[in-house]
Amino acid sequence: MKQNFDNNSFRDFEYIPGMDAWGRAKMFQAYLDDQLAKGQLNYRLVTSTGCGPVIEMGGKKMISLVSNDYLGFTQHPLVKQAAVDGISKYGAGAGASPAIGGHYDYHELLEKKIAGFFRKEHAIIYTTGYTSNSASLQCILTKDDLVILDAGVHTSVLEGCQRVNRKTVRHNDLDAYEHILQLSKGKHPLVLVIIDGVYSQDGDLAPLPEIITLCKKYGAKLMVDDAHGTGVIGKTGRGLIEACDAWNDVDLITGTFSKTFGHIGGYVVAGKEMVNYLKYQSRQHLFSASSTPAALAIVKAIELVDEQPYWMAALHDNMDYFRHGLLGLGLNIGDTQSAIFPVRVGDKIKNARICHAMQQMGVYANQINYPAVSMKDARIRMGVTALHERSHLDEVLNVWSDIKRQFKL
Ligand SMILES: Cc1ncc(COP(=O)(O)O)c(C=O)c1O
Repeated sequence: MKQNFDNNSFRDFEYIPGMDAWGRAKMFQAYLDDQLAKGQLNYRLVTSTGCGPVIEMGGKKMISLVSNDYLGFTQHPLVKQAAVDGISKYGAGAGASPAIGGHYDYHELLEKKIAGFFRKEHAIIYTTGYTSNSASLQCILTKDDLVILDAGVHTSVLEGCQRVNRKTVRHNDLDAYEHILQLSKGKHPLVLVIIDGVYSQDGDLAPLPEIITLCKKYGAKLMVDDAHGTGVIGKTGRGLIEACDAWNDVDLITGTFSKTFGHIGGYVVAGKEMVNYLKYQSRQHLFSASSTPAALAIVKAIELVDEQPYWMAALHDNMDYFRHGLLGLGLNIGDTQSAIFPVRVGDKIKNARICHAMQQMGVYANQINYPAVSMKDARIRMGVTALHERSHLDEVLNVWSDIKRQFKL
């Protein structure tokens, strides 16, 4: 008889006592087959057109709400041309790591551009946003230090904090932050608080001014990953730090080039000494091949945030319209204040069925289940972009109206 894996998650196959990797892979294959057969697997779906508001999957056109391409820059002609020009001038790859010959003037330019975007002078770039968190933290933290993490931070942050003292705080719970800061004061060479600006699954904001006050009171440093706030929040798209005018109160700003900036890669913006420390001590930066010349696309995208502010205005129109539409249908979207819209479903099987039904109706959204969110907090996550048209959003809202009735939400 076939095993029913509905109560399992990916995490259950990470470690099984006494079983080696091939044994786990075999069991995991059975899990995958079961979930695929039930239409409950929603990872690695193959899209055959570029990132955009409408994509094609399996020969079928669908409205897509799965990208973080907030300003639509993956498709901007000037951004694409900058990548082409970069490749024409320098070639397809960098050929080496920054330590030994793979460091070019376009990397220097990109570091200056992203530092300047955040009104600072110094930045280091990484080849992914993921490593800008995981690798920089592995370099910064020692076993004597303490990190205090919000429960909503990205998995790349967790990876960077694996071997250090770590306390996870209930999402945005200021009393919990204060309690831990109080207990740890003076006990570690470094106490580092790590938060997001905009949280990737809830779309809500960190209470940044209050957290800054607490960090100052208890002598902790602060890191803000604003991957989802950059290009979205703040008068000129500099994220939550701009919105809160906290330019001098954050010790490490991290983020990614894969969302608003339309390409791939990540960065850490900090003071000169810390940036230099990372440039020479962060192994994943130093000894892994550097970004390709196509990264010149990012330089153009950074410029376009200021040169063409109408993309951000279009994004905000869409955010307002979609939020009103979802709330008008009586759906629970929590406290989102960004371009991320999570519709809370609760149960993961129901969530998977809703996601599947939406695809049948021509809407591609993501189902988010444990371990990305807690067990009872499964949700459908949607992201709007500047390129969505009203007709797309109306169509999605119509689908939600059907889904609400069908699944009794
Ligand atoms: C908050 C946050 N930080 C970091 C990352 C990693 O960025 P990248 O996907 O560009 O590696 C992500 C990716 O989704 C994210 O949501």
